[in-house]
Amino acid sequence: MKRTGLVGWRGMVGSVLMQRMREENDFDQIEPVFFSTSQTGQPGPDVGKDVPSLKDANDIDELKQMEVIISCQGGDYTEKVYPALRKAGWDGYWIDAASTLRMKDDSIIVLDPVNKDVIEAGLDKGIKTYVGGNCTVSLMLMAVGGLFDQDLVEWISPMTYQAASGSGAQHMRELIRQMGAINESVKDLNADPATAILDIDRQVAEFIRSKEYPVDQWGVPLAGSLIPWIDKPLDSGQTKEEWKAEVESNKILGRSDKPIPIDGICVRIGAMRCHSQALTIKLNKDVPLDEISDILARANDWVKVIPNDKEVSMAELSPASVTGKMHVPVGRLRKLSMGNDYLSAFTVGDQLLWGAAEPLRRMLRILLD
Ligand code: HSE
Repeated sequence: MKRTGLVGWRGMVGSVLMQRMREENDFDQIEPVFFSTSQTGQPGPDVGKDVPSLKDANDIDELKQMEVIISCQGGDYTEKVYPALRKAGWDGYWIDAASTLRMKDDSIIVLDPVNKDVIEAGLDKGIKTYVGGNCTVSLMLMAVGGLFDQDLVEWISPMTYQAASGSGAQHMRELIRQMGAINESVKDLNADPATAILDIDRQVAEFIRSKEYPVDQWGVPLAGSLIPWIDKPLDSGQTKEEWKAEVESNKILGRSDKPIPIDGICVRIGAMRCHSQALTIKLNKDVPLDEISDILARANDWVKVIPNDKEVSMAELSPASVTGKMHVPVGRLRKLSMGNDYLSAFTVGDQLLWGAAEPLRRMLRILLD
């Protein structure tokens, strides 16, 4: 059994990882050792077997004892600990949720339902660093990976509708406070059916712009509004989140040398933990829609093609429906008026499952096979 260190298992992504590892009995297959940055010496979590007390996550000598380390501790931790650990001669497998090492030449971005071949080639070459992809990238490839398999894509423009969870737990909490505060601000007016809607609307607008509206985390309103900017600005005019779509997708697909253009606008909306994306896909030939549906549906066990029908789309192709679920629905499939080689698609996926935790635990299982 591989001695496997877990770091950052109490945070949001780490907690989802723990939940999935328990559900899939992963702990039966490993010798787990839990690390902490603040509670060294305290008892480890209940995973159905004895585990040692918590080790210090900054102790390189302790970390060096591990054959595998999975980190959900974040980019600052990776930046500090990973180089020190490698410098100290550690040659175990490092599996990471943070973006720090994603674009390094000696790392692989893991999404095995899409790139098992790339992962296996990396293992054969002796690569020891495996990193989860950006959530929108992983969810897009889970949804439309079949089109890439069949080499049908000339380019994609993804327009995202990203959930609060991508910014962290505190941001999710503030989104809920914003929603509640808006309701509170007009509760009495709204309860009275005789109130003119434009009076309610004016009061909501004034409240959202006022100092009473809670924006400590987001800086600007999210509930009742949206934020058309995610992550840092780059010289290209893209945000860093937008830049990731093309570079990470092509790296995942093992085709960074002949990249497919993938670029669009990333937008934060008031959903909790499901990212949605509207995709404009330029196909390199006219493929009939029924064939496209078959290609998409066959690509992996989690993608679910939703017919382009009002009731089903409204019921099944939404964050409310998909949150906490493993499947990745893709629908609104139709040819655009620009021509038969222009395809639209809309997809939704849980940002904490396939967008973060799941590829990591599956990478661990690949190492154990
Ligand atoms: N960067 C993503 C977001 C989450 O802000 O939604 C992590 O991949």
